[in-house]
Amino acid sequence: MADDEERFALRINGLSVRTPIALASMAGVVDAAYVRSRAAHVGAAFLGGYAVDAPTIAASREMAGRGRDEFILDDPIGALEGEVAALKGSGLVVGLNLRAATPEGFVEVARTIGPSAVYEIDAHCRQPEMVGAGAGEALLHDPERLEETIRALAAEGVSVSVKFRAGVGDDREIARRCWSAGAEILHVDLMDLGYPKIRELRNTVPLTLIANNSITTFDRMREMLSHGADMISLARGATERTLAGLDAAITRYADEQGWYNSPKQLCRGGDVRALAFCCMPVKSCPLIPTLEKVGMSRDRYLAIKQEAVRGTVLEGGGQTCFGSLSWCCKSSSPCMFRDMTLGQMGVSKKEYMQAKRRLSEEITREVFAAPPGTA
Ligand SMILES: Cc1cc2nc3c(=O)[nH]c(=O)nc-3n(C[C@H](O)[C@H](O)[C@H](O)COP(=O)(O)O)c2cc1C
Ligand code: SF4
Ligand code: SF4
Repeated sequence: MADDEERFALRINGLSVRTPIALASMAGVVDAAYVRSRAAHVGAAFLGGYAVDAPTIAASREMAGRGRDEFILDDPIGALEGEVAALKGSGLVVGLNLRAATPEGFVEVARTIGPSAVYEIDAHCRQPEMVGAGAGEALLHDPERLEETIRALAAEGVSVSVKFRAGVGDDREIARRCWSAGAEILHVDLMDLGYPKIRELRNTVPLTLIANNSITTFDRMREMLSHGADMISLARGATERTLAGLDAAITRYADEQGWYNSPKQLCRGGDVRALAFCCMPVKSCPLIPTLEKVGMSRDRYLAIKQEAVRGTVLEGGGQTCFGSLSWCCKSSSPCMFRDMTLGQMGVSKKEYMQAKRRLSEEITREVFAAPPGTA
């Protein structure tokens, strides 16, 4: 049985994530007590959303006045300090989903509470009062200010997440801006755009991706993970029963398969990480167009694979199609040559997939060597 750190090899804000399931914020609902009652089955929780400056507090009051659940706090920063303190020792990555009209509004919270929490910019809320205050979805329509807000928070040395609805703005452009401004996480409400949107974002930025919206079954969870999500999150469907079922299923999957969010093969619709399963560029298939798209020459692709597997279990495999397991397919694709090789080497399929994961990290590190505009 693997320990959590080895099982998911996923770190956020410097902490090891015990399971790739997050609680997504719901204003007026998701606080420390709500999270505590579900803490056994999640790895991260985004409390809030909280209005933290005068314009957004006024907007929250108006929204509450027409019957919406909201956290109305007279001293939001003091209250949030208490909420974060109440989750100390829970083993969770704790995030605060915040609404503010200016970068300074966010920064004030981060300065007081410090780096133990992730600061999630709520660019999601589309209630007219909040948007009118210049917060929530207003940031998607003003990407310069979104970028400025991320930069201001990142300059405080804290970890930043951006929560937004896909399909509102130019998602790839938003993702690139978030990356170059210093965000660690994109928390994406996919609406009805589904896994192709996660794949698009995975192929655009190397940030931690949390997929959100109606993900309450293991099939849907794996669909997101196999197209590039690092985690999934739940808001409306976050019952203890659902969370426990997802946690048990992904833990079992990781322990058996070795790579909990392994991509599909490239020719089956996989994302850029799937280059780890591709062979040499010798035939007409999606490999060559993908290399062109990510700006990697065929020679570099060959070299990086050869270099990355040196001294690892993937170096061997003289009986396989291309003379090394580095070119071999995903363990779920049946192949007696690969399996025979692994058997002779005494390497399990789980270890094989773990090695492929490390190979994919080497490849994607090169693909995403520098954010746009900084190279
Ligand atoms: C009552 C309610 C309140 C919400 N409040 C917030 C919020 O304050 N900030 C935010 O980023 N998202 C908020 N959301 C959006 C959820 O976090 C989530 O993105 C959305 O509900 C889709 O995920 P789900 O299908 O798991 O519920 C809210 C959703 C609901 C239903
Ligand atoms: S190289 Fe192989 S795995 Fe990759 S896209 Fe081509 S056929 Fe598919
Ligand atoms: S030996 Fe099997 S797994 Fe390896 S590249 Fe050939 S077909 Fe794929």
